[in-house]
Amino acid sequence: MPILNRASEMQDEVAGWRQHLHQTPELNFDVFKTAAFVTEKLKEFGCDDVVTGLGKTGVVGIIRGHRGDGPTIGLRADMDALPLKEITGKPYASTVPGKMHACGHDGHTAMLLGAAKYLAETRNFAGSVAVIFQPAEEGGGGGNEMVKDGMMDRFDIAKVFGMHNMPGLPVGEFAIRPGPIMAATAEFTITVKGKGGHAAMPHGTIDPIVIASQLVGALQTIASRSTDPVEAVVVSVTKFHAGDAYNIIPESAEIAGTVRTLKKEVAKKSEERIRAICAGLGTAYGATIDVDYDTNYPVTFNHADETVFASDVAADVAGDAQVHRAIQPVMGGEDFSYMLEARPGAFIFIGNGETAGLHNPAYDFNDEAIPHGMSYWVKLAETALAA
Ligand code: NI
Repeated sequence: MPILNRASEMQDEVAGWRQHLHQTPELNFDVFKTAAFVTEKLKEFGCDDVVTGLGKTGVVGIIRGHRGDGPTIGLRADMDALPLKEITGKPYASTVPGKMHACGHDGHTAMLLGAAKYLAETRNFAGSVAVIFQPAEEGGGGGNEMVKDGMMDRFDIAKVFGMHNMPGLPVGEFAIRPGPIMAATAEFTITVKGKGGHAAMPHGTIDPIVIASQLVGALQTIASRSTDPVEAVVVSVTKFHAGDAYNIIPESAEIAGTVRTLKKEVAKKSEERIRAICAGLGTAYGATIDVDYDTNYPVTFNHADETVFASDVAADVAGDAQVHRAIQPVMGGEDFSYMLEARPGAFIFIGNGETAGLHNPAYDFNDEAIPHGMSYWVKLAETALAA
């Protein structure tokens, strides 16, 4: 089965929803207008149940099949935007200053709404489909909040599937892998407390800038010297703040950054090394070095059987040659990971074509991907719930 004819027919309608959402981006859990739009559409489509306020502002629609009893399959989209100033110049560009859909969650939401409309019209399956719209993917952990709110048990969701667009992958292609597909994330803030003083008399000070500079270098050894070279780890220092004058050595310096890993052991070792390096440098130079370390999203881990299933569904829609079944993991984070910790399932990438990259102010979701994404969702539900 290639792309569904009905999905192609619906492309303009779904693109209209997408562009409407694009104009009114909302952040984190504050996706009130977006959630209201989703809720209104799901009710209009005739979903059997529409539940709002899950994980603060998440929405779930339930569609029961007409072919008898069966399990419930969860299909998930994210709704939140990013704090960026849009520069696409598109007629439907963001109308909200400093906010834009720069990760394509507008497209994810619209494609899943399109699939929900189709599935509610046809109901050609046994069991139920739960369409899941979550807030706060970009750092707030909305997926985790929905799981903690009891979503999986409440709707008796057996398996759960997620999808994200990928710039650079041609439209009509899909990419996936079993096992870790996206990284676990952690953030650290390190405060070096030295002793300030006159820049011309450094011997009377404990210079936090010199110590923090050495720290930035030492942290590079976590990837290069402490981790097996065939394992993945990223340690990036992304902030370095200290001092305000030419002639004063400041009292303290602060550096911060992120750690990305694909395995729990590597994540644990990385945190241990950061703490040990800070403690050792503090002792060596007589400074106090405080480490504030927050583990964030877990690894997005694709379950083996469900990955084969999702790959086969994608191949059915796109053709075998258009499905890349063993891509390299992506070191970004993704809070669909929490849903995959709660239930078996798989996360897949869909081609967005040669667009600007994710989180770039020139990015725009590619509406040509809509029939492909919709067809994937519909085919996945109908195959998983075949009578
Ligand atoms: Ni995203």
